[in-house]
Amino acid sequence: PLAMFRQMRQNDPVHFEPRMRGWAVFRYADAMYVLSHPQLFSSEAILPGQPHLPSILGMDEPRHRKLRNIVSQVFTPRMIEQLTPQITAVVQQLLDKVIPRGRMDVIQDFAYPLPIIIIAGLLGVPAEDQAIFRSWSDSLTAANGSNDTPETRVSNAQSFQAYFLQKLAERRSQPQQDLMSRLLSAEVDGEKLSDEELLEFCRLLLIAGYETTANLLGNAFVCFDQYPEVVEELRQHPEFMPGAVEEILRCFPSVAGDNRVALEDLMLGDKQIQKHQTVSVMAISANYDEEQFPEPERFDIHRDPNRHITFGYGIHFCLGAPLARLEAKIALNIVLQRIQNIQRDPTRPVEPVQSPFIVGVRSFPITFT
Ligand code: HEM
Repeated sequence: PLAMFRQMRQNDPVHFEPRMRGWAVFRYADAMYVLSHPQLFSSEAILPGQPHLPSILGMDEPRHRKLRNIVSQVFTPRMIEQLTPQITAVVQQLLDKVIPRGRMDVIQDFAYPLPIIIIAGLLGVPAEDQAIFRSWSDSLTAANGSNDTPETRVSNAQSFQAYFLQKLAERRSQPQQDLMSRLLSAEVDGEKLSDEELLEFCRLLLIAGYETTANLLGNAFVCFDQYPEVVEELRQHPEFMPGAVEEILRCFPSVAGDNRVALEDLMLGDKQIQKHQTVSVMAISANYDEEQFPEPERFDIHRDPNRHITFGYGIHFCLGAPLARLEAKIALNIVLQRIQNIQRDPTRPVEPVQSPFIVGVRSFPITFT
């Protein structure tokens, strides 16, 4: 696909896609233009026939800002840094389980459990509920390979909702130090959030941070497999890990793009975009734009600057970016310290996640010593 995106950047950088009845934006500069003009490109505008999502991801200003502010202090790098001991402990436990066996499926045994445990903890889901919580979450996302029937999905979504409503009710009478309590006590324009908004917020925090981070961790192993010299360098220099994580994010953007809706007729590049048409910002192409990234196809953990747009840009810039970065840095450094001779199982093909919005692998079995 890299060659295809290169061609699109050259020949048709703002492309009308009849199947999507909308536009796809391939160049970095155009992508930045769209993401930095939320007054022209809405996250909220309701498309005919599509339900409106009352979560901040699908909201415009001013309400977006007010709701985002309720939780933004929790997600600053400084606050998130305090989760270091907890993340470290979870990573060690996950590895303790697989190390005696000398093999694991990176995705099932490592990449998925870590982020869900951390987000559940932040939200305020007690440890004893986390197994059942994970099974619902897997069903809400595609984490179980979409094996659920539609009926199971609906019933899991209902269980999830009932669980949150109950937890929220408990916290109304007895606030705790967690995100659910913070959301409950917040007021926006003098009013508390409705139950629907509370649920949507919890669901967003969970979904936005779960598969995305899991795929980042999975993609890291794909890179380690492709670039063994990088693995050696990182073992010697754990301080290079943040740069490596950024380069993994750039080259394998677990979120492949962001969608917007034009609020008026406007020109983008030399194309006339009509009001209400959708515009998809293709991070997966913009991150390889040769105008922004010299030698874009080179995997370079020392790339500086590395202004990829895998976390988006502008007012909707990923709230969880500091958390995803910290989890990845800690997890991958511990992995490289504790296990050696990581080998991909050559008998099992690496299957990509079947979604145009996600770059990741469905399973990645490895052996190690
Ligand atoms: C927004 C990517 C991890 C919570 C976004 C957006 C992107 C993104 C691209 C913006 C979408 C848009 O502009 O339409 C990622 C990636 C992650 C990741 C690639 C991991 C590698 C997380 C985590 C959390 C999180 C761990 C939190 C628990 C959110 C929230 C928003 C968001 C709440 C909405 C922000 C807003 O609308 O203002 N993320 N994310 N994300 N992300 Fe993440």
